[in-house]
Amino acid sequence: MLRNTLCAIVAVTFATLVSPALAENSTMATKQKVLVSSNDFPESGLEVLRKHFTVLQSRYIHFGEEGIKENKDELLNLIPGCAGLVWVSHHPITKELLDKAGPSLKVVATASAGYNHCNVEELKARGIKLSNTPNVLAPAVAEIAVGLILGAARRFTENLDQVRRGEWEIGFQKVLGQDVRGSTVGIIGLGGIGQAVVKRLAGFEVSKFVYTGHREKPEAKALGAEFVTLDQLLTQSDFVLLAVPLTSETKHMINSTTLAKMKKNAILVNVGRGDLVDQDALYDALKNHQIYAAGLDVTTPEPLPKDHKLLTLPNIFILPHIGSATVRTRSDMAVLAADNVVNALSGKPLVTPVLE
Ligand SMILES: *[C@@H]1O[C@H](CO)[C@@H](O)[C@H](O)[C@H]1NC(C)=O
Ligand SMILES: *[C@@H]1O[C@H](CO)[C@@H](O)[C@H](O)[C@H]1NC(C)=O
Repeated sequence: MLRNTLCAIVAVTFATLVSPALAENSTMATKQKVLVSSNDFPESGLEVLRKHFTVLQSRYIHFGEEGIKENKDELLNLIPGCAGLVWVSHHPITKELLDKAGPSLKVVATASAGYNHCNVEELKARGIKLSNTPNVLAPAVAEIAVGLILGAARRFTENLDQVRRGEWEIGFQKVLGQDVRGSTVGIIGLGGIGQAVVKRLAGFEVSKFVYTGHREKPEAKALGAEFVTLDQLLTQSDFVLLAVPLTSETKHMINSTTLAKMKKNAILVNVGRGDLVDQDALYDALKNHQIYAAGLDVTTPEPLPKDHKLLTLPNIFILPHIGSATVRTRSDMAVLAADNVVNALSGKPLVTPVLE
């Protein structure tokens, strides 16, 4: 006790005399701990966190197999006593990890718009707050949606393959695609991303935008988008865009029944989550030319194994879940996730709450 007190006096005196930085360090022991689940979280977000907390960070990347295996023990080791957890992946948050965290854990901030991987029920039962990062990623995801629309409609997969093989199919009627101009574009889920896609496609001379969802959106009028039922959307649309969160209700909402309602020239684009689509049914529909093509930024599983049957199809254009993967957007997501943790741990409302 005496020894501790003396040490503290010496440390404080020394720090005050020597440098303000050291003085700040001497208070670090009392700072709350926040754990960042991946070694590749942007510096912009770490900076915000370091101003307020002692930041612990996994030495491993929290994606792919390594994210599941090597990272698991690391996180279980680091989490005890942490007040905040920044989740930088789409891997599930397990009960085991929450148990290990114990009652000190007050907030989880996922650096993603979707939160289907966050074990919401378990967080709720434990009174742990949850935030996500919507809005900041909508422009980047919308740009990828436009890319997928063009990539699938203009058959980028087959065409790129020809270029790589040096065997171009040259001719007036070879490898023809579909126009966006004059088409009907159907948006399933006119949230931030859906709206951003409509804004971006406005210059493409689309003839009609329709959308469906739980209710009509006030923003739709200004965007010129008409509210329809899912069935109407499927039967009318030349492009069907999935931009809804994955829930028990939306899981496999594109299945053999709904695919059968789509037009023969229809193009399905998914920037939501892989499980919105029954991939076996999609494979059959594309193989049998029941629909024209598909463009996917999300699949089940991720990564999709390289021998997966979807990759044998010429009329599919697949990207490795890069919707929000731009320098600016990832940095914005990191700062927003960090701001949520700061607010939660200083008694302020979350900036972008899921559970509060
Ligand atoms: C705190 O201490 C570490 C090393 O122990 C040092 O790198 C850092 O610059 C110090 N100051 C602050 C303000 O963190
Ligand atoms: C297919 O999707 C529709 C609409 O989302 C749903 O009502 C139906 O139950 C689904 N059917 C199957 C076989 O999953």
